[in-house]
Amino acid sequence: MANGYSAVVVAMVVVIVVAAVVGVPAAEGAAAFACDKRNVGTRNMGFCKESLGIEERVKDLIGRLTLGEKIRLLVNNAIAVPRLGIRGYEWWSEALHGVSNVGPGTKFGGPFPGATSFPQVITTAASFNQSLWLEIGRVVSDEARAMYNGGTAGLTYWSPNVNIFRDPRWGRGQETPGEDPILAAKYAANYVQGLQGNAGRRRLKVAACCKHYTAYDLDNWNGVDRYHFNAKVSKQDLEDTYNVPFKACVVEGKVASVMCSYNQVNGKPTCADPDLLKNTIRGAWGLDGYIVSDCDSVGVLYDSQHFTPTPEEAAASTIKAGLDLDCGPFLAVHTATAVGRGLLKEIDLNNALTNLLSVQMRLGMFDGEPAAQPYGNLGPKDVCTPAHKHLALEAARQGIVLLQNRGGALPLSPTRHRTVAVIGPNSDATVTMIGNYAGVACEYTTPLQGISKYVKTIHAKGCANVACVGDQLIGEAEAAARVADAAVVVVGLDQSIEAEARDRNGVLLPGKQEELVKRVGWACKGPTVVVLMSGGPIDVSFAKNDGKISGILWVGYPGQAGGAAIADVLFGATNPGGKLPMTWYPQSYLAKVPMTNMGLRPDPSTGYPGRTYRFYKGPVVFPFGFGLSYSKFSHSIAEAPTKISLPLSSLSPNSSAAVKVSHTDCASVSDLPIQVDVKNTGTVDGSHTILVFSTAPNPIWSPEKHLIGFEKVHLMAGSQKRVRIGIHVCDHLSRVDEFGTRRIPTGEHKLHIGDLTHSISLHADLQDIKF
Ligand SMILES: *[C@@H]1O[C@H](CO)[C@@H](O)[C@H](O)[C@H]1NC(C)=O
Ligand SMILES: *[C@@H]1O[C@H](CO)[C@@H](O)[C@H](O)[C@H]1NC(C)=O
Repeated sequence: MANGYSAVVVAMVVVIVVAAVVGVPAAEGAAAFACDKRNVGTRNMGFCKESLGIEERVKDLIGRLTLGEKIRLLVNNAIAVPRLGIRGYEWWSEALHGVSNVGPGTKFGGPFPGATSFPQVITTAASFNQSLWLEIGRVVSDEARAMYNGGTAGLTYWSPNVNIFRDPRWGRGQETPGEDPILAAKYAANYVQGLQGNAGRRRLKVAACCKHYTAYDLDNWNGVDRYHFNAKVSKQDLEDTYNVPFKACVVEGKVASVMCSYNQVNGKPTCADPDLLKNTIRGAWGLDGYIVSDCDSVGVLYDSQHFTPTPEEAAASTIKAGLDLDCGPFLAVHTATAVGRGLLKEIDLNNALTNLLSVQMRLGMFDGEPAAQPYGNLGPKDVCTPAHKHLALEAARQGIVLLQNRGGALPLSPTRHRTVAVIGPNSDATVTMIGNYAGVACEYTTPLQGISKYVKTIHAKGCANVACVGDQLIGEAEAAARVADAAVVVVGLDQSIEAEARDRNGVLLPGKQEELVKRVGWACKGPTVVVLMSGGPIDVSFAKNDGKISGILWVGYPGQAGGAAIADVLFGATNPGGKLPMTWYPQSYLAKVPMTNMGLRPDPSTGYPGRTYRFYKGPVVFPFGFGLSYSKFSHSIAEAPTKISLPLSSLSPNSSAAVKVSHTDCASVSDLPIQVDVKNTGTVDGSHTILVFSTAPNPIWSPEKHLIGFEKVHLMAGSQKRVRIGIHVCDHLSRVDEFGTRRIPTGEHKLHIGDLTHSISLHADLQDIKF
């Protein structure tokens, strides 16, 4: 979303006027959006009849609307149609990791002072726990429905953000589930299902939205901003990486909406590209829902990108490409003229409206009073409940990654480390812990408060803020460390360093933070533990190699209960099990990698090293998937095929090397029966994620390991469990060729699980082909 655009301000002013006219009842709950049971004038109209199918109801409603009304329903602040008993609706609400007030559709106050603020997504992703992602979505949508019932929130949430975290400098990497397409795909499908509920028959609890489609992951770097950026993306990278989470959102998550991005892809604005919208999202993937623009991106493609000579052509190009809703005023202003000039037909608007109104009907907005509907019983008592707050704490515990534990210095012991110096610009953080796209948290436990529950603390910030421009406060921090039995230095970043519209220039700790850490390490006679609070990775090679630094934890932005979770890990009440969802590159990597280069694969001719663990082979500070535990785990393969024969559905000329997925009878192929025995060989209970990587037979498909599946399991000390990992040949053993075609290479595939390697020989079965 943009904040700096004047048009957004205009849109928000309109929202306020609409709200004032309609009146938002607060405590007594929302009035019906439409089809008020007491309204004898409209309640018998076809669109209000719950007994009819959604298609029929939508058709009835569209038949009653004037052209002018239709146009004013294609924007986020949709107008009221009082003659049909329909109220105005603000489509823009956000719920990235808790109900948020970033969009104008949601307001806190009165009986809803706040909502549960879960860890930022990059932290939650580090848990690699699919049931946690689903559960967070379920809780967030409970709170969202409660607020909707109270008249203070919408039902359409423009979350999650599933763009690939391609470059470590990206200011919005924190919002995403990381750099791996399979990880992002599973996060997306689970969170969306949690939000949307599974009431069946297309019914939606709230409508989620996967954004920003596609290849959007540059905000503002070296004079290039997202409003002008043309992402040059190969067909291979698009199919193999950038589009994977979006496809999973639509196909597996059954998401009700996709948002197109600001940037261009290969010279075309995404919101005006029929190939990307109509043909791919709606055609190939079968979206049942609406496509929305990023806020003002229709204006941006005309004003900033000069994509068309006139605004009417810009409006027409987006609707014809498959856009249904404009976040911003552009379509409301220019669509009438576009229709007048014959650039658009009324039927084009009807198609867009059908997609929008169907979602509103599936949400129950045309079923009368919210209180009489499913979820109608949810209210203030269902927000910030003890169970929800506990889940926020649990999510933070599960997302924390232990990066270093020199000589087993951690966990600290409250009996041996009776006094702990708590130091650093993020040591008493509150709002910093919830990152961006947050709401108002129920409450906070800061790191200082969390640690103080275990031991006596001495607090010294060491830096005024994360920019840490001076060293004036470091002496006081050293003094605190000198008299303590251990030191915990909470350093890192916040939204002043990495944010929307703010990419980083480098990946080092800002200002004098490094000096603070080193000097505290020297001053403290006991262990010094560095706690990194950041969304993006930080090059902390200095701390990794400093013998005075005993432990390093990465906590991401750990949410409202972050400080309690940090303390639980530091003192061993929680055994850390998080793993890094992205590569931690050294600062030197950046010199060879312009942020504007979208290529994932290395290019030996230019020295470009490639991106992410799937393609980049150079040195790293910490690799993707890395994370220590206070325990040890061992794996052995209990069951895995050594040979697979792939049934073809049609003859593929080159099937001896790699079979096209489209020529494979994927529906008849069941999941590979892969079972792994995992044993906790340590002395404490803990959770462990089994990561299954594969390498393809022929290095032309990319020589590196790719994640193809993962499963998290909790194991008591000394115990063992057999874990099944779902691997599908078509989805997980396929690779994409340079034409963007997904193929399954035949020959010897290797699976990698921990230190284990297992070979599977895969061949195409030509016998079953029906000519
Ligand atoms: C089959 O493979 C050969 C050699 O790799 C290549 O030249 C040819 O274009 C391929 N044919 C098709 C239909 O992909
Ligand atoms: C995954 O998260 C859920 C929800 O918090 C939790 O109950 C479960 O124990 C977690 N799984 C593992 C293996 O830690």
